Amino acid sequence: MMKPSRMGEHTRCVRAGERLDRSVGGVTTPLHTASAYMACQDVEGAYRYPRYGNIPTQMAPADKLAALEGGQAAMVMASGMAAISSALLSVLNAGDHAVLQADLYGGTHRFLLAELSRLGIGYSLVADADPARLEAAVTPRTRAVYVETPSNPLLRVVDLEGVAAMARRRGLVSMVDNTFASPINQKPLALGCDLVIHSGTKYLNGHSDLNCGAVAGAAPLMASVRERAVNFGGTLNTYDCFLLERGMKTLALRMAKHNENAMAVAEFLAARPGVSAVHYPGLPSHPGHDVAKRQMRGFGGMLSFELACAPEAARAFVDGLELALEAVSLGGVETLVCFPAVTSHAKMSREERLAIGVTDTLVRLSVGCEDADDIIADVRRAMDAAGIA
Ligand SMILES: Cc1ncc(COP(=O)(O)O)c(C=O)c1O
Repeated sequence: MMKPSRMGEHTRCVRAGERLDRSVGGVTTPLHTASAYMACQDVEGAYRYPRYGNIPTQMAPADKLAALEGGQAAMVMASGMAAISSALLSVLNAGDHAVLQADLYGGTHRFLLAELSRLGIGYSLVADADPARLEAAVTPRTRAVYVETPSNPLLRVVDLEGVAAMARRRGLVSMVDNTFASPINQKPLALGCDLVIHSGTKYLNGHSDLNCGAVAGAAPLMASVRERAVNFGGTLNTYDCFLLERGMKTLALRMAKHNENAMAVAEFLAARPGVSAVHYPGLPSHPGHDVAKRQMRGFGGMLSFELACAPEAARAFVDGLELALEAVSLGGVETLVCFPAVTSHAKMSREERLAIGVTDTLVRLSVGCEDADDIIADVRRAMDAAGIA
């Protein structure tokens, strides 16, 4: 079989990592449901056991992701938060310190507040994160720098090559939440970053029917991530691994459509009266556009926009949408809409939210794989009906 490093992107999606069962000739990785194996050891010599993540059904999507991210190793986990917590705690010990960008997914923010502090791990949150501002927050105890780009929900872009270079110079482990971009649009490891993290619930699976996460990187760092995931029990069960591998086979195809559709919707919104700001890295007006052009191969399916109206009119707009479904989460084939203030960032105080730009009239769209014309028509009609013009 061709080495994944020699495969094109679509071929990696379809074939990398697969564990075909030649004894029966099926063309997909079989779903191994057993939790007990008869003294059967994997390549690393550990007995096969689902919590160890070494069942072939679990290894297939992990190796597919490693191939797509260009990492030596990857592990799939029970959620994006399992991936984030395992990655951070693979490096940080009591007394250590981490530097993170301030506008992170709300759940990550919550993890810092509720868990890192309790474990005696310090951290600094850096607004308008760029490599220089992140470096200014580094202390002698800092061990890790963590960014999310594009960020949820304001699509802020962080210069990953700059962060990686700073981390190397200061002896830090650099971690990137690559959920919004997906490995098709952005490859942080190739830009010099150390660990890449996903909420696989989103684009990797792509069908809004699975909660999972993943981490990829170089083998020595991944050994510690794996140990944390196994000890905390955050491994992904085999049924979900089967679904995840199936979803990932069409990742490159789906991302091409997400990229195309989101660009069309962003351009429509940017020209629409009543919309005071559109946050999409593909628009030349986006402050991170130049960096995004350098480090991304597509700008993704996520965007958010600010409505210049009262919160009641914004509510009426979302209520009036017919194709776009109001829901938390993102990255599936169906277009989803939400108010981040009451979903992803609901656990933040109003002051914290406003400080990072999450207002009450900020709308986030996860642009799906329907026809762009249908999505735009839905948005136009609901805006007209809500009197937003
Ligand atoms: C950017 C980002 N990272 C991580 C997560 C957490 O992932 P999960 O819900 O799969 O734990 C999310 C969830 O919305 C997210 O948007």
